Amino acid sequence: MAASPVTPSLTAPSFPRTRMRRNRYDGWQRDMVAENLVTPKDMIWPVFILEGENRVEPIDAMPGINRYSIDRLVEAVAEARDLGIPAVALFPVTPPELRSEDGREAYNPDSLACQAARAIKEQVPGIGVICDVALDPFTTHGHDGVLDEDARIMNDETVGILCKQALVQAHAGVDVIAPSDMMDGRIGAIRDALDADGLTHVRIMSYAAKYASCFYGPFRAALQSDGYLKGDKKTYQMDPANSDEAVRETALDITEGADMVMVKPGMPYLDVIRRVKDEFSVPTFAYQVSGEYAMLKAASQNGWLDNDRAVLESLLCFKRAGADGVLTYAAIEACKLLKAG
Ligand code: PBG
Repeated sequence: MAASPVTPSLTAPSFPRTRMRRNRYDGWQRDMVAENLVTPKDMIWPVFILEGENRVEPIDAMPGINRYSIDRLVEAVAEARDLGIPAVALFPVTPPELRSEDGREAYNPDSLACQAARAIKEQVPGIGVICDVALDPFTTHGHDGVLDEDARIMNDETVGILCKQALVQAHAGVDVIAPSDMMDGRIGAIRDALDADGLTHVRIMSYAAKYASCFYGPFRAALQSDGYLKGDKKTYQMDPANSDEAVRETALDITEGADMVMVKPGMPYLDVIRRVKDEFSVPTFAYQVSGEYAMLKAASQNGWLDNDRAVLESLLCFKRAGADGVLTYAAIEACKLLKAG
């Protein structure tokens, strides 16, 4: 005789005694057992900065995302702060005449990024300012470092320039220096440079495991960098085939003094986030990059995905993978969605 699930006998195996669906029975029940949660505090909003005044320029491949002149950026950053976003990450669009072979605009104390940092610190108290350190927005060849005669990126010479860049940013009020260049030894060198200048409170969020990815395409268009890049970035950014190497890269950055680490891109690299978090238990961030954002938007605009659900699910999955926070272009819209319930 088959065992009844309702009145199991002492001898019959009950089918099934454990019913996983019980904890999914009601909305409140699901909320009670939810292991992860997305809040505005999990989001860092990357922003694009333009020269001039009163300019807001939409970016074609990133629907809903704009480049802002500093006066308009300040308003947008104030909105982010009021939504509960803890920090923004600055990305300047460099006018072509300020690009050079050695990217010296990177350490101009009056660069667009420095001006933007000063304006935000003055006019929008209470939100953190993160700024990329790398030469690609400033070089005529579009690489993150400087080149030798054979067009190889010179590591140590580049690190020297990155230190100068970090210093002008920190003096302009940037709270968190985010080296995205993938040169060897740059975290330690930047930490030493900051400390020697009395900037011991300035934090470093390293792009510890940054891959040579096709998913940065729309970002390069947003910065108007796409026409410049000669070749690819495979001699400094990581091979998408590797994850042991991501652990070694991250270990080095932590040893050299990184306060926070980042994995980039995001969604195709959730396994790397999990490995890094499990291995080191340090604050670990993910970057949901421009190409990921573009994919979500393109599918939504075609009616193939429900935009609001896709955005929030993607962010939740970063938390589940172990990220403490996510750099995401969708930060503003996601906060509004959370607020609306
Ligand atoms: C610059 C930098 C890049 C991104 C962040 N910082 C592009 C690159 O390395 O080529 C990509 C961000 C995105 O795609 O959203 N080193």
